[in-house]
Amino acid sequence: MTNSPTILVFDSGLGGLTVLREVVAARPDAHFVYVADDAFFPYGHHSEDEIIARVVPLMGELIGTHDPDIVVIACNTASTLVLSHLRDAYSVPFVGTVPAIKPACAQSRTRRVSVLGTKGTVKREYTKALIRDFAQGCEVTLVGSPELASLAEAELSGASVSDGDILAELAPCFVGEDATSRTDTVVLACTHYPLLLDRLKRLAPWPVDWIDPAPAIARRVSDLLGPPADGSQSGAEMIFTSNRVHGLSARLTPFFGGRALA
Ligand code: DGL
Repeated sequence: MTNSPTILVFDSGLGGLTVLREVVAARPDAHFVYVADDAFFPYGHHSEDEIIARVVPLMGELIGTHDPDIVVIACNTASTLVLSHLRDAYSVPFVGTVPAIKPACAQSRTRRVSVLGTKGTVKREYTKALIRDFAQGCEVTLVGSPELASLAEAELSGASVSDGDILAELAPCFVGEDATSRTDTVVLACTHYPLLLDRLKRLAPWPVDWIDPAPAIARRVSDLLGPPADGSQSGAEMIFTSNRVHGLSARLTPFFGGRALA
């Protein structure tokens, strides 16, 4: 591996930035390529066949162009579906983002956990298998949100998003009345949702623990890369598949640890 490894972080849009910022903090030595497949956003509205047919060849092009040392699929809607296809097709190591059901159920005291994801993610066989294998006796409520990823994109892009619109997506996560048996843990099973975390906390009918897998993903990436060669900071670039002119640099650079975006 070279002194400055290249890490390609991929999502349907801006949500993967919540994973990127953790990986950047863990690996300041790396060069980052962030790819937002916004031309096909939101993935949650596409069929499984459409997502596989979109992501597998697109990833081949991205690997050909950027020659990454590792690829992070910072999208639950894609990871729960395409990881095995990507690993079959390409030799570069892939790290995925899948619903953190195991740690959530391990820590829930009321044994009631909700998984908030896109409609695609909560439908996946992959997600159902995680519940079968790791619910540890907890009651798990799957909440497929049609609009929350788009609301997070809008807010990060500077639009105003109403409390009512967010609450309509969030409310089904809160099950039960009595403090000893109601939901106490919500899995953020879409990388867009941590962008709204302050608002989710404020709008929640009662306090819960919010589980974001990004720090664990960053540790996994760092373990796979091995120890950094030196402490120097490398560069970053951002690609929108729509080729749109985004004008968002000032809002996005904090996710890149302050690096100037190429
Ligand atoms: N950020 C994505 C996820 O983690 C997907 C949102 C979408 O494109 O529907 O699921």
